[in-house]
Amino acid sequence: MKQFSLALAGTLLIATAGLSQAADLAAGKAVWEKVNCASCHGADAKSAVDPAYPVLAGQHADFLVHALKAYQRGAAGAPASANVRKNAIMGAFASQLSKQDIENVAAWLAAQPGPLAVRK
Ligand code: HEC
Repeated sequence: MKQFSLALAGTLLIATAGLSQAADLAAGKAVWEKVNCASCHGADAKSAVDPAYPVLAGQHADFLVHALKAYQRGAAGAPASANVRKNAIMGAFASQLSKQDIENVAAWLAAQPGPLAVRK
């Protein structure tokens, strides 16, 4: 039993370490600045210059990842569906991002204070 608990603790440790490596907040902020997402969505990702640009600060990371991949699929020519977003502007910007860029920028955005979610 003791051996089993130790093995389980080891597995959990490895799993947690893996998770913390998956998204890098500093790298996410760097993507945000390098690609200049702020020029439309606002530097804080919630004070957009136009109401057509959605608030991103505090949005769930998995939703943001899904949205950005959907723009990439749309830009690559996939026909519109629930997993494909056809938008000329965001298609062009999302297409500049790697899979890791998307994970990082989504995690950084989710960590920003915003009006979209109530934190418990
Ligand atoms: C030229 C202006 C502009 C720039 C620059 C821009 N966006 Fe957008 N973004 C938009 C617009 C407009 C929409 C809404 C598009 C639509 O209707 O699907 C949008 C939508 C999004 C969405 C979907 C949000 C939701 O709630 O569905 C995400 C995520 C997003 N942008 C992230 C980014 C990131 C990350 C960058 C930088 C790599 C970026 N945007 C750069 C204009 C811009």
